[in-house]
Amino acid sequence: MTTLTPAAIRTKRTLKRILIGLACVAVAASLFIVGYQTLVDPGSDKRSSVLTNTATNPATTLARGAYLARAGNCMGCHTSRGGQTYAGGRAIATPFGDVFASNITPDTDTGIGRWSSDDFWRALHNGKSKDGRFLYPAFPYPSYTQVTRDDADALYAFLRTVAPVRQINREHRLAFPYNQRIVLAFWRTFYFRPGEYQPDLSQTQEWNRGAYLAQGLGHCAACHTPKNTLGGSIAGRNFDGGVIPGLNWYAPPLTGGTDALGHWSVSDIADLLGNGVSARSAAFGPMAEVVGTSLQHLTAQDLRAMAVYLKSLPSTGQERSRKMIAHAEDDEAVLIRGAKLYEQHCANCHGDNGRGAPSAYPALKETTSATAGNPLNAVRMVVNGGFPPSTKGNPRPYGMPPFGTLLNDDEIASVVSYVRNQWGRHKSLVSANEVRRARGVTGD
Ligand code: HEC
Ligand code: HEC
Ligand code: HEC
Repeated sequence: MTTLTPAAIRTKRTLKRILIGLACVAVAASLFIVGYQTLVDPGSDKRSSVLTNTATNPATTLARGAYLARAGNCMGCHTSRGGQTYAGGRAIATPFGDVFASNITPDTDTGIGRWSSDDFWRALHNGKSKDGRFLYPAFPYPSYTQVTRDDADALYAFLRTVAPVRQINREHRLAFPYNQRIVLAFWRTFYFRPGEYQPDLSQTQEWNRGAYLAQGLGHCAACHTPKNTLGGSIAGRNFDGGVIPGLNWYAPPLTGGTDALGHWSVSDIADLLGNGVSARSAAFGPMAEVVGTSLQHLTAQDLRAMAVYLKSLPSTGQERSRKMIAHAEDDEAVLIRGAKLYEQHCANCHGDNGRGAPSAYPALKETTSATAGNPLNAVRMVVNGGFPPSTKGNPRPYGMPPFGTLLNDDEIASVVSYVRNQWGRHKSLVSANEVRRARGVTGD
């Protein structure tokens, strides 16, 4: 331990007092803001009619609730592997530890059987449990808050019809201080604003429907909006892409800029969302799961609406690509070795010219994993391989074998560097270190 002079000790104490004072002010301020927001929440009758066909017939409400549950992928998170539907227990990985999804079956003791539709609305809209506790944003209520009351009620009605399962919620596995729910008061002050989706009347109904789904139940922002170190969405960078904290996959930007979906047609995007494959790319990693459990169940109109909306978003231009670096001579050697490895291991499926055979084998030419600033996805695909999801449009997807044991870090770095130089816009190399790090990650 270092010894401190009395003056230093005094300064330290004063600092500590100031910090404690500041923290108290911040907690008080956030509680005030949260309370205030709950008070001023406006009603929504007019708005919802632009977005949904309000049904009065109970069978239709239930069918709509079931459909919306697909759009929100509630089952994906609220069902553990091999577990009972909606009974919870699945770990959602965050940089702060695992948050376990709750039992949302209508079981009265362990599920949400005693919840009223108001309680349910408060969870979706305000991120609060029945007893008023703040919920962790691993439950994507920062997106779900956009859902209309009508749709929340339909979801609630549907969830009351699923089989009740007695299963006690698991304790979250979070490090201190994140295991203290009061920390969320703080977090919410900065990163959460309750508020229903407000239609933009200068846009078409299709656009508004797409925006409503993508921003709300689809919770695309949970992965596709870059986050700061506290897991808050970075302001002004909606759908701008970034590495998903806790999952270690790179979610590309979804804007209409030329660095994103600008080159995709509306039907390319809708195909990827609905079938898991398109002329541009195949869904893999967490996106394959999103397509498999949620998006493939949506109507062609809704998929199209999301595509139309996404393509209209301006690029922020912040998705940094790697600097173009002139090749050094030994770089050329790496690329020549990469080309040989490609010929030997990859060309069979992806073609000599990188054009693949969509929709069986995706093209690598101009595909996002080749052009993105971040090489993480390309590296992870080569290490682990993968399968697009099985969908109605693509029931027996072709897969990619893992090369993680066949090729060493240097070889994988060379072949990925080759792909990105040849068919991405990159003139920089992937290092063996990046491959080693990507091998170490456990996110699924
Ligand atoms: C990305 C994963 C994820 C998705 C998708 C998701 N949830 Fe959750 N949900 C969670 C997690 C994790 C919790 C636990 C949060 C906590 O304990 O603070 C939770 C909690 C809840 C709660 C509060 C339960 C309680 O006992 O307090 C409700 C209600 C809920 N979710 C409903 C839904 C509905 C409805 C959907 C679909 C529209 C949905 N969830 C989709 C992860 C998810
Ligand atoms: C759980 C995280 C997650 C969620 C939620 C998610 N995505 Fe993705 N998405 C990814 C990842 C990771 C990729 C990169 C892998 C791939 O291309 O399949 C991706 C890729 C994509 C691509 C291909 C982009 C490209 O340039 O190749 C599109 C389009 C897309 N997502 C749309 C959406 C939409 C629309 C939603 C919401 C309805 C959504 N995603 C929700 C993680 C997610
Ligand atoms: C047996 C056929 C096959 C071989 C061999 C193969 N791939 Fe693939 N590759 C695929 C398929 C299928 C996918 C889509 C997988 C998915 O969506 O999960 C894919 C996806 C990819 C992707 C992501 C493409 C995207 O849409 O962004 C990259 C990058 C990639 N492969 C690189 C390689 C490299 C490099 C090699 C050689 C080391 C290789 N592949 C060998 C079939 C193959």
